[in-house]
Amino acid sequence: MAEKILVTGGTGYIGSHTVIELIQQGYKPIIIDNLSNSKLERLDQIQAITGVRPEFEKVEMCDKAQMEAFFAKHTDIKAVIHFAALLQVGESVEKPLLYYSNNLLSTIHLLECMKQYQIGNIVFSSSCTVYGNPEHLPVNEDAPIKPAISPYGNTKKMCEDIIRDFSMSEKQMKSISLRYFNPIGNHPSALIGEEPHGVPSHLVPYLTQTAKGIRSHLNIFGNDYSTPDGTCVRDYLHVVDLAKAHIAAIRRLLDVQDCPIWDYINIGTGTGYSVLQMVKAFESATGQEVPFQFAPRREGDVEAVYADTTKAKNLLKWQTELDLEDMLRAAWAWEQKLAH
Ligand code: WQD
Repeated sequence: MAEKILVTGGTGYIGSHTVIELIQQGYKPIIIDNLSNSKLERLDQIQAITGVRPEFEKVEMCDKAQMEAFFAKHTDIKAVIHFAALLQVGESVEKPLLYYSNNLLSTIHLLECMKQYQIGNIVFSSSCTVYGNPEHLPVNEDAPIKPAISPYGNTKKMCEDIIRDFSMSEKQMKSISLRYFNPIGNHPSALIGEEPHGVPSHLVPYLTQTAKGIRSHLNIFGNDYSTPDGTCVRDYLHVVDLAKAHIAAIRRLLDVQDCPIWDYINIGTGTGYSVLQMVKAFESATGQEVPFQFAPRREGDVEAVYADTTKAKNLLKWQTELDLEDMLRAAWAWEQKLAH
């Protein structure tokens, strides 16, 4: 019998890619999402790719009554993957209370319902932002946690702590927080991908829109960092590889009896690329030119961060399989399909 996995925020960018991998690996995902940052047509796209239309219910996780009504109906959930959150770094600086109330309350309601219905496994979508500007690279999970640069990043750290403390108190609940580095690209079918609202804040969608002529040029925020070419370094990983890491984490929670009741694992490639290297790699992979200009540094940007992936390899038996060319070609194929 296929194990039922709840995916909160499952119509979102990373959530929908994870639902695809869950289906393809024999699980039965059920999605709850408030559709504040995604569309129902994601279900059509998932069905087109997998042949399966996942169960979906529109649920506002900040409304405890809606959450209780959902869990009362679905008592066969074996584990939860928790993506649902507001995630715009810049917006979180302007609206901190919105981010704290939404991201923390939705997590607390989820944990309360998991306790009530004795669901003992959760994988949490966390972020490498918890490391801030790491002293040592590659950064491992024992690196000091830095004060968050944004309320968004702070909610990720706070939710990690809430889940940890709840796991410790409950004993019956096991959790793994996956600390993502920079997910980019999309499913090779180009039927699904990142759809930023308005002007993209992230590098790759802005880069593909520039290549498409929607933007006149890419602004590279800062070229005076202490990096080889002066531009910031990040660990970009393919969103399909990232999705597969979630299945590996679910498998560990469901199948490995003596795994710790809470853990946190870096999910990256282990290789860092600078912004300039990304522009050159995109041009070489796609043949598309990307005009750019250097601009002032962006507030809150980390100079360089990329993952030590040892723990993911050892505990999840997972590592990335797709390379930078795969990621950038997929992003370009998706951009070409988007009607702006
Ligand atoms: C990457 C680099 C920019 C746009 C964010 C979130 C993080 C995580 C991943 C969720 C930086 C530079 C960007 C542009 C540029 N999300 N850049 N011109 O900030 O590393 O991480 O996404 O877990 O929490 O903060 O990603 O793509 O915004 O920036 O020069 O137009 O590209 O300065 O160095 P970031 P990003």
